[in-house]
Amino acid sequence: MHGLFYFIKMNQNKPVSIQQKFSLFNDQWSPKIIAESNDQLIKLAKIEGEFVWHNHPHEDEVFFIIKGKLLLKFRDKEIELKEGELYVVPKGVDHFPVAEEECWVMLIEPKGTRHTGETDFERSVDEKDQKWI
Ligand code: NI
Repeated sequence: MHGLFYFIKMNQNKPVSIQQKFSLFNDQWSPKIIAESNDQLIKLAKIEGEFVWHNHPHEDEVFFIIKGKLLLKFRDKEIELKEGELYVVPKGVDHFPVAEEECWVMLIEPKGTRHTGETDFERSVDEKDQKWI
């Protein structure tokens, strides 16, 4: 826990550079936590390829595209998000993220949200295993 408190304090006491934080990791589909606010976690992820159909029964999920493009497939439509665009996936709505090329995304979601919802998937990373950077 010491490490966690240290990083919370560190990131909250000075500006956080999104670009600099993205330079610290290369693994894909593995969200990194960069800030916490009102029980919401702000995370960065690099994603490429297809994720998995899932929903989050209790949480809306914010996608903010930092670099590249992200296609969000829904059961009844598709939405393409470009760099600089933000989209809120409402709670309970099935979605399937696809990135043809590596996409850098910022996610904002409540603590405790599983990024694959109730779906277990090889790309699921439990929140306890998601690291602060
Ligand atoms: Ni999701």
